[in-house]
Amino acid sequence: MTDGQGRSIDYLRISITDRCNLRCVYCMPAEGVEWVPHASILSYEEIVRLTRLFASLGVRRIRLTGGEPLVRRGLDDLIRELKAIPGIETVMVTTNGTLLREQLPGLMSAGLDGVNISLDTLDPVQFAAIARRSGLSSALAGLNAALDTPGLTVKLNCVPTLENASQWVPLAELARNRPLAVRFIELMPIGLGGGMPGISEADLRAWLEEALGPLAPCEGDKGGGPCRYFRPAGFRGKIGFISAMTHQFCSTCNRVRLTATGFLKTCLQYDAGVELRPLLSSGADDAELLRVMEGAILNKPLRHHFGASSQSRDERRTMNQIGG
Ligand code: GTP
Ligand code: 5AD
Ligand code: SF4
Repeated sequence: MTDGQGRSIDYLRISITDRCNLRCVYCMPAEGVEWVPHASILSYEEIVRLTRLFASLGVRRIRLTGGEPLVRRGLDDLIRELKAIPGIETVMVTTNGTLLREQLPGLMSAGLDGVNISLDTLDPVQFAAIARRSGLSSALAGLNAALDTPGLTVKLNCVPTLENASQWVPLAELARNRPLAVRFIELMPIGLGGGMPGISEADLRAWLEEALGPLAPCEGDKGGGPCRYFRPAGFRGKIGFISAMTHQFCSTCNRVRLTATGFLKTCLQYDAGVELRPLLSSGADDAELLRVMEGAILNKPLRHHFGASSQSRDERRTMNQIGG
């Protein structure tokens, strides 16, 4: 369907859990957060029912996020059911990669189409400082297993900060000889990201070009999302930038989000949207759910205002509850 601004919405991000086995500095406080009780999380059955309705509204692509989606049991069963829904073309997962190697065979047989792996550094000491847990070797094992899996689209996400500056080039280099997209995400003022200095695409790009040479745009490669892709000479893979702070992409936004507790969130920044769980619990039929979902999508905000402090941003949800 199209929203009230004429944008076609065909992409749904579903956070299946707020829980995570890491504590990344821009996402969660060191002491962690109080997890949402299991009873408040959408069941897989509810997620499948809602996805069927989203598909009838034109959603074609699903991204499963968290927290860390691989910590929720039975992810392979969920993927299998989502892939069977008429209209759903791809199901991808965004993960920190630490549990991926063990689970990948099961996820592949369920029909997984791609993984985006969040990895901010290749240095174990930095990893422990940024993610506040050990886990670099298992994340790398997950990344390598994904790259060794035929037919799986693999992308790496790095949030560049002052802390991992020594790693920007080594991470980009991972794409030299591999069919990998290494993407750099400008830190957004969501959750703890608001209190940290971020690195702009322009500064990062200058740094990368110094080391790798000019970054040529990958023509015609829109990627279906907010990322813009480039290829340094001699690279098999590519480098991407997701720059919500300096290159706002809201005018072509194609997505809505479903949080783990069933809030249909129509913009990353704002509280705009609707709670679907009370409707599910009170026995609403499909027609009523569809009416409410369509109403929320029609009112999807025009754009974010990350730079402005007075805007009514979503103060109720942290990044691990939204799923990025
Ligand atoms: P694909 O391009 O489909 O592979 O996925 P993606 O990049 O949209 O998903 P991923 O989960 O890897 O997210 C990467 C980063 O992009 C995260 O920091 C997200 O918060 C950010 N992102 C994804 N969608 C949006 C969006 O609509 N708005 C903004 N501002 N950021 C987004
Ligand atoms: N700004 C930008 N990206 C963020 N992520 C988490 N918090 C933020 C933030 N404040 C990223 C993670 C992961 C993706 C889902 O979102 O690193 O790659
Ligand atoms: Fe879309 Fe909101 Fe993200 Fe802008 S901030 S790209 S409108 S979800």
